[in-house]
Amino acid sequence: MKIVHISDVHFGFEHLRDKAEKAIRQINEMEPDIVVLTGDIGLWGIHHEFREAYEALSKLKPDLFAIPGNHDARNDGLKYFELYFGKSRKRLKMDDVIILGVNSTLPDTDDGYIGPDQRAWIAERVRENCINVIAMHHHVVPVPHTGRNMNVLIDAAETVEALTLHCHGGIVLAGHRHVPYSTKLLRTHIIHAGSLSSYKVLMPDNSYNIMEVEGEKINLKLRFVDLGEIDIGTFTLKPEIPESLLKYHRLTSTIKVLFVSEKNSCRTKLAEAIFNKISPHNMHAISAGIDPDRGLGHDMIEVAERAGLELTAPRRLTDEMVKDADYIVSFGEDVDRIKADEVWKIKPPENERECADLVGEIEKRVRELVRELLIS
Ligand SMILES: [Fe+2]
Ligand SMILES: [Fe+2]
Repeated sequence: MKIVHISDVHFGFEHLRDKAEKAIRQINEMEPDIVVLTGDIGLWGIHHEFREAYEALSKLKPDLFAIPGNHDARNDGLKYFELYFGKSRKRLKMDDVIILGVNSTLPDTDDGYIGPDQRAWIAERVRENCINVIAMHHHVVPVPHTGRNMNVLIDAAETVEALTLHCHGGIVLAGHRHVPYSTKLLRTHIIHAGSLSSYKVLMPDNSYNIMEVEGEKINLKLRFVDLGEIDIGTFTLKPEIPESLLKYHRLTSTIKVLFVSEKNSCRTKLAEAIFNKISPHNMHAISAGIDPDRGLGHDMIEVAERAGLELTAPRRLTDEMVKDADYIVSFGEDVDRIKADEVWKIKPPENERECADLVGEIEKRVRELVRELLIS
């Protein structure tokens, strides 16, 4: 599959019409499968820039997949972007390549932001057996030697982590700095296109990228509009997620544990209370039962009080609780409609001595669980 990546065409007074027309002719001759445009279609987000861009870019024979840049978001310009270039967030699947376009702009500011909703949207739509191409306008990492190396996404760290965790064979296509650049960050290949047709260009000439994707390999060429083509290199995709990132991610994530039994009586309540007493601050447990039992033996209440544990009121299990839980422990083989991560085969107590033993036994299991969730 051949992808041509163009950016920062900047229709308006920055626009170099000859460069754009020449590049469009070149691109048509190379017959790519798709042209991806990573934003800054105009300059001020005003209507005639988008109209002019639409008419000029309609001369491209391949389909155009465009997302907006910071200049397009000026003056409420995204409505004109969408009028001519479709949704600012969109997905396209071609063979085993998925292209996800996200809107990294904020209204009337040059800053970039992906945000939790779009990061979740990306995570839901990438596929493990595909090459996942994420198109955005802003930089995930600064582009060196460009004089403005602080200008990255506000949520760059979260975005890098999300891409690394979720984007199997991930490529980021971006623009914004008007400088072509490519680097590998963890397991994501970041590829910037220079400006196709703005006079603000920090390179010998206006340029665009040509990518050939084959299997797990991607070949990247930089094409200057007037000065010819440079082979940048061939990269292999789909490396492993760095183990260190998984560890840090685990340590900074919250973990919700659900203890479930038929009645939500002694065992689940004790596990909940012990867990919430001894677990780290980023973990929280609740307990629930299929058919919660209002009564709790006096023996159990006294034993729990002596152990400094406060038992909660009975809770009925809901689908929402199951969905929200990161980890589920079931106390009963009878709770078979829940797909638990593990089952603790511990019998309900029958007398005061068994109640006391139960506290010790559950505390031991909870300590093991906390360690497992934190360390492994
Ligand atoms: Fe730009
Ligand atoms: Fe920009």
